[in-house]
Amino acid sequence: MLLARAGAATPALSASPRTDMTSAPTPSTPAAPSTLAPNPWRLSVAPMMDWTDRHCRFLHRQLSQHTRLYTEMVTTGALLHGDVPRHLDFNDEEHPVALQLGGSEPADLAACAKLAERWGYDEVNLNCGCPSERVQRGAFGACLMAEAELVADGVKAMQDACSLPVTVKHRIGIDRIESYDFVRDFVGTLHQRGGCTVFIVHARNAWLQGLSPKENREIPPLRYELVHRLKSEFPQLTIVINGGLQTDAQIAEQLEHVDGVMVGRHAYHEPWALAGWDTAFFGAAAPVADREAAEDLYVSYLESLAARGTPWPLAARHMLGLHNGLPGARRWRQVWSDHRLKTRAPREVAALARAAMAGRGAALAA
Ligand SMILES: Cc1cc2nc3c(=O)[nH]c(=O)nc-3n(C[C@H](O)[C@H](O)[C@H](O)COP(=O)(O)O)c2cc1C
Repeated sequence: MLLARAGAATPALSASPRTDMTSAPTPSTPAAPSTLAPNPWRLSVAPMMDWTDRHCRFLHRQLSQHTRLYTEMVTTGALLHGDVPRHLDFNDEEHPVALQLGGSEPADLAACAKLAERWGYDEVNLNCGCPSERVQRGAFGACLMAEAELVADGVKAMQDACSLPVTVKHRIGIDRIESYDFVRDFVGTLHQRGGCTVFIVHARNAWLQGLSPKENREIPPLRYELVHRLKSEFPQLTIVINGGLQTDAQIAEQLEHVDGVMVGRHAYHEPWALAGWDTAFFGAAAPVADREAAEDLYVSYLESLAARGTPWPLAARHMLGLHNGLPGARRWRQVWSDHRLKTRAPREVAALARAAMAGRGAALAA
């Protein structure tokens, strides 16, 4: 099964690299041509460290079958010297899913791109947008925007090493470099020298001194017009815009200018937003009828984790925003985050949470 559907049996958890190195599994029910995505990058959920782990991606896949999903950034060092299965294992249901790498050495990036292919990822993405000090000390992330030729060599090495699409996620500039020419030259060099054709552009600068990563997602101003200009000057490239986009109307508006939209924080905090995307942006049926159905599917997943000895609260945290905006959502969230319940079975906690949401909490908990 490629994608989990409402009513599906307990999800299978994958645990090993794939032997078929070139293709994702065939869906049991192929999508009708009219429901196929016009391009694979039309809509995606951003890579987010500590947030978009395999559990979060499983939840997102229940809510949208067509949205592209990204892993958290994994450094080349962690893959080449660390626990590969811990970093790369994912659920079969997550496709299409991209592995995001952090690194700068072409040979290391090539070795990791090979691993990405062996493990069955659909894309490998290079992070050129992270401004954190730790990442700067490792000389990768956003500071790589000042080294376009090195990045181009890295992209080329990755492409030579695997048959996956190799994409780059970057900012529009670093520090106080505000000119369009800087990002244009970065993209141009990666395209001409590295053969990169897909660019995901977070439409604000990264200020490498004096701002925390969180502030770097909020303070440098958003300048969507620069990303639109990239698309009009490089019409042959796939340009995906990212940063501050939330509503379906905002996404639709951006799709008038660029090939794709990547949504980060809003998708995480308001996961139910994803449930409308297949219909709104892919002309396909919504995969789940309502929030309760989505919750039921995820509770089955939590049960499968618990049965394998994985603490389910690690995964439950990703669905805390599912009922946002509805009466009782706060009470529902409080039950799911109550550490006193973490040894109980997920189904039991789900019953308590629903009762609390309906205002019957005390009776059931007693
Ligand atoms: C908690 C958190 C972790 C993030 N980790 C990464 C990361 O690992 N790699 C990356 O390229 N961007 C990372 N980002 C940035 C997002 O991918 C995205 O570019 C940014 O949040 C702007 O999009 P948004 O306004 O839709 O959230 C992270 C963002 C957040 C909130």
